[in-house]
Amino acid sequence: MALTGICLVLFVTFHVLMNAVAICCPVAYNKVCLALGANWYALVASMGLGLLFIVHIIYALVLTVQNRKARGNDRYAVSARPKSVEWSSQNMLVLGIVVLAFLGVHIVQFWARMQAQEVMGSLYTYEGVQIPAAAGSLFLQIAFQSWWTPVVYIIGFAALWFHMNHGFWSMWQSCGWDNQVWLPRWKKIACWWVTIVIGLFTIQAIVFTVRANQNYYLTDSALMNQYQEMFDEHFEVVSEPLTSEMKDIQRQAQQLQNSGDMFTNQIEMQKLNERFMEIRSQLEQMYAEHNDNITRLMDLANAKETAAAPAEAAAPALEPTEE
Ligand code: HEM
Repeated sequence: MALTGICLVLFVTFHVLMNAVAICCPVAYNKVCLALGANWYALVASMGLGLLFIVHIIYALVLTVQNRKARGNDRYAVSARPKSVEWSSQNMLVLGIVVLAFLGVHIVQFWARMQAQEVMGSLYTYEGVQIPAAAGSLFLQIAFQSWWTPVVYIIGFAALWFHMNHGFWSMWQSCGWDNQVWLPRWKKIACWWVTIVIGLFTIQAIVFTVRANQNYYLTDSALMNQYQEMFDEHFEVVSEPLTSEMKDIQRQAQQLQNSGDMFTNQIEMQKLNERFMEIRSQLEQMYAEHNDNITRLMDLANAKETAAAPAEAAAPALEPTEE
């Protein structure tokens, strides 16, 4: 329990630092999202993290059942709450459940729309726009533009503060690394560490909410250019098998022509030609869909801006770029 706890504390600390990149430079944040996407190392890390959560939760349930059995129906010998037992230590399971509920919402809002989509080879669709998994700041826009997101997050952060604060120093006790001098020190260190981490998460949630409600992630020109590059890269990746087949057909046709025996090769040439035309129309359709997707994103950005400032509706914020 203690070991999984310390790994989770380290993860949460790493996570808050990652989010800080999204505050300082959203363009760089999207690059980090791209690097961490669905590469093998990111997938191994995600699976390891999932396993840590599962082991931590299973141990929590087992320990709670054991404790209750040991104490019988009366959880405490005296009915008045003992002063030495802190509120959070008595409510670790409930706090853990609140954190878990927050995590459920959080995973649906981010992981399920980003890494999970990438693994499945699909894209999350929002208002008709297919969003590449690496466009992390667009996912911040979608999540934090809803009024209830900061509410759920702040409740989750409050529960996480109590849960981590107690868990952090008690794990030193569990590991036997405590004594009269060090236990109070660990308690202080835990309180500072957890307060800084949770404080930063809270500030971040507020900044993301303010920015999302100003449609910053949909109207900032550097971000919009970056999204367009991502869309183009995605198009290149999905169209690559067809373009390389096209090149292959051209090579085969060249070989047939060079062989000189046009009459015997005529049927073969016709087959190649038919396949070539088929691929070309498929690519044209994909390209049209790709352009539509970019236009829909621009329309969405313009619509949000217009809704935010009806008086300035006459001037469109963004023009679709020519390819
Ligand atoms: C302002 C607060 C937060 C924001 C904006 C945020 C944002 C994100 C984002 C963008 C992802 C990436 C999903 C992906 O690439 O697949 C993510 C993943 C995740 N977050 Fe958060 N997060 C926040 C707070 C938290 C907290 C407090 C916890 C823990 C209690 C947490 C736990 C996780 C987990 C477990 C994952 C999945 C990681 C993985 O599978 O690699 N997040 N979060």
